[in-house]
Amino acid sequence: MSEKQHTFEEITSHLVTSGFVYPGSEIYGGLSNSWDYGPLGALLKNHVKDLWLRHFVRGIEYNVQIDPAIIMNPKVWEATGHVANFHDPLVDCKYCHARYRADQIIHEQKSELDVDGMTQEQLNDVMQSGQITCPSCGKSEFTPIRQFQMMFKTFIGVTEDKQSVVYLRPETAQGIFVNFKNVMRTTRRKLPIGICDIGKAFRNEITPGNFTFRTREFEQMEIEFFFKPGEDQKWFEFYKENCKGFVEKLGLKDEKVRFRDHEPAELAFYSSATTDIEYFFPSLGWGELMGIACRGDYDLGRHMSSSSQDLTYLDPEDNTKYIPHVVEPSFGLDRLMLALCCDAYDVESLNDGKDERIVMHFAAEIAPYTVAVMPLSNKLNDQAKKVFDMVHTEYDAIFDTTGSIGKRYRREDAIGTPLCVTFDFESENDHCVTVRERDSMSQERVAIDELNDYIHRFVSKNRVK
Ligand code: GAP
Repeated sequence: MSEKQHTFEEITSHLVTSGFVYPGSEIYGGLSNSWDYGPLGALLKNHVKDLWLRHFVRGIEYNVQIDPAIIMNPKVWEATGHVANFHDPLVDCKYCHARYRADQIIHEQKSELDVDGMTQEQLNDVMQSGQITCPSCGKSEFTPIRQFQMMFKTFIGVTEDKQSVVYLRPETAQGIFVNFKNVMRTTRRKLPIGICDIGKAFRNEITPGNFTFRTREFEQMEIEFFFKPGEDQKWFEFYKENCKGFVEKLGLKDEKVRFRDHEPAELAFYSSATTDIEYFFPSLGWGELMGIACRGDYDLGRHMSSSSQDLTYLDPEDNTKYIPHVVEPSFGLDRLMLALCCDAYDVESLNDGKDERIVMHFAAEIAPYTVAVMPLSNKLNDQAKKVFDMVHTEYDAIFDTTGSIGKRYRREDAIGTPLCVTFDFESENDHCVTVRERDSMSQERVAIDELNDYIHRFVSKNRVK
């Protein structure tokens, strides 16, 4: 690996040109920081989700997965306080009318201030003090802070009136809380239980940006883990360890990942502890990938009083009745993908600096394609295709027939394919293929009959336990 630092722009431009990510609605001029995942991004995403499911759902005996609806009864969001409080503090520059989130612009220009612990009045005081300048025109006069509702509103049914207002969910978590009773009843499980969900969430962010880091539509992988009150610290530590294990499996570099405990002033009023996992993004610095929060009985308590349904749990161990407490590990999938791509990207010099290659060092388990199969000559396409068909039933694989073998290797390095399999003229006689490994570029002959086993062993060997 090279020691060279690569900029955020260099990496994201590679992601766009190679087909990981496309600008959303591009043929119509795009849509304000919206992005579509191309074939490579979609595969990478599937593999990260698979790993998350294996680690947190199959891997933890207490956990189950559900898939709730995106559009929920608006009473859900009244109960949680989202309708009243899910706001961002909005300011406009009085000169050039550029629009900002007050907390973000203060954080960027006065990093010594703890913006998360500040009230709206305090944020306003800083914005009006002349210490903050508009990044667009350099002036220091802003409108007073206005609160901006971040939930996307729409209408259900044919009439567009107050009664038919619904919201796109701003987090997947509430689909889990409102189903707590259903899951307990139908699974006949006891506490503790973790209910997991992967799905889209929507927030009308004032300042989306930094590629897929902050968008208005994104995917979350969330768990609400319910347990007996008093066990909060035990399960909080349990999930800290498990999240650490998951991040290790993804192969992110240790020195680029940190766990950051929230200061008391930063904590939501119902939370006794919260830890964020952050990644050090090139050009941007530390950014949050996920949070692990102790939420007590806040959400179930709110839904219980708003819905008048009994969401308590009768503990068969001691016959006591209580509202379970919750620890919530909440990953943002798109941010995680961006971190993985930044972490994997490298440009390596070859042949004493006469040549270079772009290489994405993804862990073998999550790379978009595990294998590329290549015939050395077009005359060998039919036989090589048989090898591809065999591999393709087990792994995400690509059949590449164009350009020199060297060029094809470079293409696969640039999208992170860990193994390239070449079918050459000798293969017809010895029934072997040449397998070339992405990182070391070493090559070895492998019998075609044993190829799938070889790939399986390679992926397992490269897996972080
Ligand atoms: N249920 C808790 C919850 O939603 P959050 O910290 O607001 O907590 C969790 O969101 C994760 O979702 C974040 O750590 C981040 O990775 C991701 N996320 C939040 N807003 C996002 C946005 N606008 N764009 C991309 N990812 C976002």
